[in-house]
This record gives sequence, structure tokens and C-alpha cells, in this order.
Amino acid sequence: MLIKSELNDKDFKKISDFVYKKVGLNIKDNKKYLVESRLSSLIGSFFNSFTELVEHIYKFPEDSITQDIINRLTTNFTYFFREPIHFKFLKWYLQNKGKREKEIRIWSAACSSGEEPYTIAITSHEAMNIYNYDFKILATDISTKVLVRAYSGLYEGEKIRKYVPPNLIAKYFDYNINNDMYLVKKSVKDLIAFRKFNLKSNPYPFKRQFDIVFLRNVMIYFANPEKELLLNNMYNHIKEGGYLIIGLGESLIGVKHPFKLTKYSIYQKV
Ligand SMILES: C[S@@+](CC[C@H](N)C(=O)[O-])C[C@H]1O[C@@H](n2cnc3c(N)ncnc32)[C@H](O)[C@@H]1O
Repeated sequence: MLIKSELNDKDFKKISDFVYKKVGLNIKDNKKYLVESRLSSLIGSFFNSFTELVEHIYKFPEDSITQDIINRLTTNFTYFFREPIHFKFLKWYLQNKGKREKEIRIWSAACSSGEEPYTIAITSHEAMNIYNYDFKILATDISTKVLVRAYSGLYEGEKIRKYVPPNLIAKYFDYNINNDMYLVKKSVKDLIAFRKFNLKSNPYPFKRQFDIVFLRNVMIYFANPEKELLLNNMYNHIKEGGYLIIGLGESLIGVKHPFKLTKYSIYQKV
């Protein structure tokens, strides 16, 4: 059987249309090399050509190989305490508005490998006695690969020491000197429910509203109409006076949405 490992423009277009429709990822025309390099190891193993791969994803949009393809095409870069101003804000919220609530719900809506929701959990422990509240963090992502890593709560020593202050490492992680890995403690992990969730779903299935949604560094992959739908869905699922936080490098200029910008990419439902 002849193996054709080159991605032609037609198949590239079909792959990018598929991921756009399915998960809202907007792969620009100049990113063909990226798609090719991330999927190339599947050619010669699962498929004999990119054309076969394309046929597969359209025929079986929900199967595990298609999910693996989506996992490979998403960009999962993240780290603990990324954009620390947002965690300072979270602490302020919990110590002021949050303490008047009985039920506190926080959603890390594109949680990647878990650094963001674990940072939320650690910050919350530092801010208040969360056991006095009905307190829960939901952490979701479209990629099952990152969710497995997130759920494990296991991180390389180097990554933890670079981003987490030493006093918080001592309080919230167990260290394994044999493999230089840190495991998040149960008190942190128990606050979080990890789930697979596609932000493109419509409507959203949640019964309760959130105090704060972290929607950081994911909209960069969405085109404006997708962003508008997403932001409207978010609005319906945030408490009156609650907040939506996007990445500091992101902008909602030119995007119609119902939120009021406060500061530092923090938007409020008013
Ligand atoms: C760059 S990471 C951001 C992680 C974290 N929020 C941060 O700011 O550090 C973007 C994440 O968005 C996820 N993602 C992309 N499209 C998505 C979608 N349609 N639904 C849910 N998650 C999605 C990717 O799998 C990836 O893990």
C-alpha cells in the first residue's frame, strides 16, 4: 500500500473546516505546516494518506481517533499562576463579595492540563475557609488528553518551582524526590470536578450559575461569530454581578457582547 504523507490544500481545507465546525478552532490558511506536523505520525500508522484521514473524521466525527486528532490540533500551553493579577482579583472577590454567598461556583472553562483550576483552588484556600461554603470548581476542556493529565494532578518539579511560591508548594503539594514530581494534595484536588466540554455546545447544560468564569487564552482560536455565541452563553450562566475573565492578551474589540469591562480583561455581568 502506497503511503502519501503530504497534506494537499484540499485536505487541509477539509480538516480546518471540520475542526472549525466541531470545536470552533479557527486554523488560518498559513498554518498548513502545523496541521501537517501535528498529524503526520498518523499517516503510515492509522491512515495511508491525509485523504483517508479526512474521510474518517467526516464519517466518524465522535470516535476516539477523531478525538485524538482534535487533541493534537488544540494548543494547550499553560502554567501555574499565569497572569497573576487574575488570581489577586479572585482573592479579592472571595474575601469581599464571595463571602456573602452560600454557594460559590467557579469555572475554568478551557482548563488545559489543570494548572489554572489548581491555581484557582490554591488561591481560594488562601483567601477563605472554603469549608464554610458550598464551594466547587468546574474545570473543562475539549481535549481528553490534557484532561487526563489535569486529573492526575502530577507535575514536573521544574514547572512547579518556576511558577509556584515556595510556601504554597510546601502547603499544597507532595514531593516525590525519586522522580522529581509534585502531586497536588487532596485538599486542592477535591475542590475540582474535571469534565470534557465543548465551548461550542449550544445551549449549555449547567443548572447553576457561576460567580466567576475563567475563559482565558481560548477565544484566540475562535472567529468573531463564535465568540459572540460563546459570550452570550457565558452571560446566561454567570450570576448577576458575577465575572468573566479572559486572557490579558485577548481583545473583545469588534465583538458584540453584553458584559461591562472592569479592568485587566475582567468583565462583569451587570
Ligand atoms: C492555551 S490553553 C489555555 C489554558 C488556560 N486557560 C490558560 O490560560 O493558561 C487553551 C485550551 O483551550 C482548549 N479548547 C480549544 N477549543 C476548545 C473548545 N471548543 N471547547 C473547550 N476547550 C477548548 C484547548 O484544548 C486548550 O487546552
